Amino acid sequence: MTQDTDRYKNSIKLFKRATKVIPQGIYGHLTPVITGPLASPYYVEKTKGCRYWDVDGNEFIDYMCSYGPMVLGYNHPEVDKAADDQRKKASVCNHPGEVMIELAEHLNKLIPMADWTVFGKNGADMTNHSLMIARHHTKRKKIIMSKGSYHGTAAWASGAGHAGVIDNDVENMLYISWGDSEGFKELAQKHKGEIAGAIFTPYHHPTWANQEMPPEGFWKEIRKTCDEEGIVLILDDVRAGFRLDLKGSHEFFGFEPDISCYCKAIANGYPLSAMVGKEEIKISASSVFYTGSYWFSAEPMAASLATLKILKRDNGIEKMRKMGELLKSGLEEMAQANELEIEVTGPPQIPFMTFKDRGDFRNSQLFAVESMKRGVFFHPHHNWFLSAAHEKKDIEKSINVADEAFKEVRKVFGASDI
Ligand SMILES: Cc1ncc(COP(=O)(O)O)c(C=O)c1O
Repeated sequence: MTQDTDRYKNSIKLFKRATKVIPQGIYGHLTPVITGPLASPYYVEKTKGCRYWDVDGNEFIDYMCSYGPMVLGYNHPEVDKAADDQRKKASVCNHPGEVMIELAEHLNKLIPMADWTVFGKNGADMTNHSLMIARHHTKRKKIIMSKGSYHGTAAWASGAGHAGVIDNDVENMLYISWGDSEGFKELAQKHKGEIAGAIFTPYHHPTWANQEMPPEGFWKEIRKTCDEEGIVLILDDVRAGFRLDLKGSHEFFGFEPDISCYCKAIANGYPLSAMVGKEEIKISASSVFYTGSYWFSAEPMAASLATLKILKRDNGIEKMRKMGELLKSGLEEMAQANELEIEVTGPPQIPFMTFKDRGDFRNSQLFAVESMKRGVFFHPHHNWFLSAAHEKKDIEKSINVADEAFKEVRKVFGASDI
């Protein structure tokens, strides 16, 4: 990746300082090892709407939205006020606040399959919890998931071969390829009476690959097999939730899970996750002891209520969809003008762009670096996110920047073989 030491000199200084006191300096999905050394800033200074500024004063239109949580715009005044008002009254205490009930009532009404709700902080709190509930509910051990899907960093979700994961952690995990409902049925029959749950994202959004929508009939077949075999169907809607449909992404795809997990867009950046479930599972959900030091904080719950109400009031999902469509068609047009073949996959609200003719992502990386230089943050390997704060003028500016970035890609890698 391009070395841009001048543009990111404060970021680099801070990163060097960080490596002395923090393993890897920045770890997890924000590590520069993934985003690319010196390809993008490392540290943020301030945020506003659909933009942020790094510690060197560079401004970016943001198509990552904090990897999902920012859905209405950074520092949204109404959400922040709701959170501030609640925090000033009470947030972390020996007891939850009334707002916890209000938010659970709101979610149970909003999401048709939801008869109960519990809260946590991170998406993985809920995906981990959902497996325990499914296992307790069925008195079975095995879980089916899709290869290459991300459900958090717990050992079962990371999978064999990852540092710190031992064989026992994954001995009860079974895998299908995304979209293979026939393979799912075969696994369920092969392990008849052993499978507690199946956990899937509503559509496939892997890193370093195109996104894939569910094949025709996929969810109907999965639901049918789960019903026939007594398997708890868990939807991991952590990433897509409240961006495709306010009622949950299963409504968008027309099926009903038994449990659904949310995080990301639920509270516009305030730390909160939630799990909703059907009445039949409520006793099992009550039996599994699961909690955390901050899980009852009232402030993020007030932020969440405000976020969900504003998303509905302002028709936020439709706005994201429209802006995403505009971005997609603009990128396609500019790529074509530069004789480059691209694919924009996934729903418009959560798009991802790849170049068709290369498998190594070097052109995607160059495209991202050149876009960042010009003030637009597109990720080269991970799906993007739109927010309700992205306006037409932001999209138009981003498309113009993309045009310039495509020209640089064309210069280095040549035209596509169209
Ligand atoms: C689909 C999905 N599930 C689970 C998680 C884990 O959420 P968290 O990082 O908040 O624990 C993520 C995070 O990106 C996700 O995208």
